Amino acid sequence: MAFVNENYFKLSPSYLFAEISRRVETYRKEHPEKAASIIRCGIGDVTEPLPQACIKALHKAVDEMAVRETFRGYGPDYGYEFVRHAIAGEYRERGMTIADDEIFLSDGSKCDCANILDILGGGNRILIADPVYPVYNDTNVMAGNSDVSFLEGTDENGFVPPPPGTAADVIYLCFPNNPTGAVATREQLAAWVAYARKNDALILFDAAYEAYIRTAGIPHSIFEIPGASECAIEMRSFSKNGGFTGLRCGFVTIPKTALGKRKNGTLEAFHPLWARRQSTKFNGVSYPVQRAAEALYSEEGRAQVKDLTDFYMRNAKLLREALDKCEWQYIGGVDAPYLWVKCLPGKTSWDMFSFLLENVCIVSTPGSGFGKMGEGYFRLSCFNSRANIEEVCRRLSTLKVA
Ligand SMILES: Cc1ncc(COP(=O)(O)O)c(C=O)c1O
Repeated sequence: MAFVNENYFKLSPSYLFAEISRRVETYRKEHPEKAASIIRCGIGDVTEPLPQACIKALHKAVDEMAVRETFRGYGPDYGYEFVRHAIAGEYRERGMTIADDEIFLSDGSKCDCANILDILGGGNRILIADPVYPVYNDTNVMAGNSDVSFLEGTDENGFVPPPPGTAADVIYLCFPNNPTGAVATREQLAAWVAYARKNDALILFDAAYEAYIRTAGIPHSIFEIPGASECAIEMRSFSKNGGFTGLRCGFVTIPKTALGKRKNGTLEAFHPLWARRQSTKFNGVSYPVQRAAEALYSEEGRAQVKDLTDFYMRNAKLLREALDKCEWQYIGGVDAPYLWVKCLPGKTSWDMFSFLLENVCIVSTPGSGFGKMGEGYFRLSCFNSRANIEEVCRRLSTLKVA
């Protein structure tokens, strides 16, 4: 009989969204008269359709696939040159020196965050922020990495933990952050790059929400920080800027100058290892989807991405105003589509979940589902229709919290 991966039994049960659904379902059954008025503000999925530039590119690419002369079969393992060039071009426009072949296309950032561990050795000392996107920790547990420490996000550090006094080998950073909506300043990221260089560590930088940054001066990429191309890999997604959650496309940026080391002490670039990994385990993103991704970089596409993200950020502003009126404490919602709200005094994250569901039929995400440091908070997502957000704001204003 085949042995199973023992590491899977070390995972904590992934119960957050399942438990949310279970509790909402129970509530619907017990209160059928209220079922229709439940509004979900807990989910991180987008609600608005794809930008028109992508739709046009998709239609055109599908038509090409219907004709022998323009039909395309297997594409290049790392993505077509047209899209890698568009992506790297945007980095260069922003003053970073990223080459087209340092971009590796993928079917989304979640897979990249997980698969990157394929090119890292065992026994690394891993640092992960808490609260956090659960994929980083779970994939390390699956890979059998036991030396995982958590960086505590708190009110005091604004949920941007500073580098610790002890050394690590791999650090996961995600800014703008899911779930807290916090962003790191240039100085804060520079401190992390300095830490990584001092300790010969690697930063895995998840910039899935960079398109939501509105404050001037906040870095959109780790590679805006001098020295980062020697110690960082960046993961990016088209899910939240272009609404590709159902289309699936993202990319990893691996500068050729980013190095790790072998057991014998020899230095090795990560770039050829990832190239080898991808060409062995991945057969690329479909041609029409790559054309849709390319369209995000056209003049029309860029304007539409701005409109789309502005739409969700307008939702964020409405929610912030509603929370301000209720005098609730929160962070986020300025450079990120999430608000991280402090629970009312004496309530846990799950108490708050029940309180909002039972009193105003709003579904939130309990902060404790994102790590120990998330207890005492809940997340509100701005990915919703305007009508729903306006109704959420109205309902919040009716809450009696005394
Ligand atoms: C921080 C973060 N990284 C990555 C992802 C995954 O994005 P994708 O849809 O590209 O897999 C998400 C999705 O919610 C996320 O919140």
